[in-house]
Amino acid sequence: MTIPPPMPNLHVNVDHVATVRQARRELFPDPVQWAIAAEMAGAQGITAHLRMDRRHIQDADVKELQKRIATKLNFEMSLDPEIVAFALRLRPHAVCLVPEGRKEVTTEGGLDVVRERARLAKVVPKLARRGAEVSLFVDPDLEQIEAAALVGAEFVELHTGCYANATGKAREKELARLVTAAEAAHELGLRVNAGHGLDYDNVLAIARLPHVEELNIGFAIVARSLFTGVEEAVGEMARLVASVDPRRAGARGSSTPGARTRGSRARGASTGIPSTRRSGASGTSARRSTAKGSRSSGRSGASVR
Ligand code: PXP
Repeated sequence: MTIPPPMPNLHVNVDHVATVRQARRELFPDPVQWAIAAEMAGAQGITAHLRMDRRHIQDADVKELQKRIATKLNFEMSLDPEIVAFALRLRPHAVCLVPEGRKEVTTEGGLDVVRERARLAKVVPKLARRGAEVSLFVDPDLEQIEAAALVGAEFVELHTGCYANATGKAREKELARLVTAAEAAHELGLRVNAGHGLDYDNVLAIARLPHVEELNIGFAIVARSLFTGVEEAVGEMARLVASVDPRRAGARGSSTPGARTRGSRARGASTGIPSTRRSGASGTSARRSTAKGSRSSGRSGASVR
């Protein structure tokens, strides 16, 4: 049995670096270069989603990431046959299967593993045979988690979007659902990751979820990096995640844990600025107020960026 680490690893999603590049069909900013900087700042894995519509990450980005990053590539993908064939050729360290709709702004809710059971029962073992750790992105729903175990997934990634979008009592309820889901997944022999909608203000409770091995975080880190640079944006998130390790309790102001040593940039990531002050400056609060309004009026609670 795998013993989960005392704190989850931080995997950074680089999709939205490519979103900026694709806005102008330019060659920059380069998500691969950004990913390498993120690794140096403490990312323990890099996540990228090759969408069917290629709205951000392109095929060449994924191939370059696979070649050039020093940590692990987590390839987010739909069940589309073209994308599955790409993943089988790529042989990434890990894959995370997600639902994908052409009109969605981003992944909306977890995969319906119950409905897709027959397809998943074929694709999951194929990907696993090519050496990938296979994860299914699911809502914290026991039926979905049981189905994930039945189709042979190694991991579930618990969808934290509803938790991230909720406030007050509703958020507590979502957190309780996530705790129950993480415990249930572990009981079924599944390993547990989590992600979506996480930011500098809401990440700690998720980093403390039982059995969670990896957090996948993208938008909030990329957005903050526009103000602070990659090193600080990733470093601050890495420090927050590491702060839940009971062995580190009381250790303040230490440099980024797990930072890759690709030269001197890996050192001295800490600025000592409290995260609460910087979240205002980073645009996280603005994102909340604007995006929340549209979320409550529009798509379901599961709809996230
Ligand atoms: N996990 C999954 C399965 C996702 O689809 C995404 C978004 O691409 C993320 C995590 C990261 O979400 P965010 O960009 O909101 O941090």
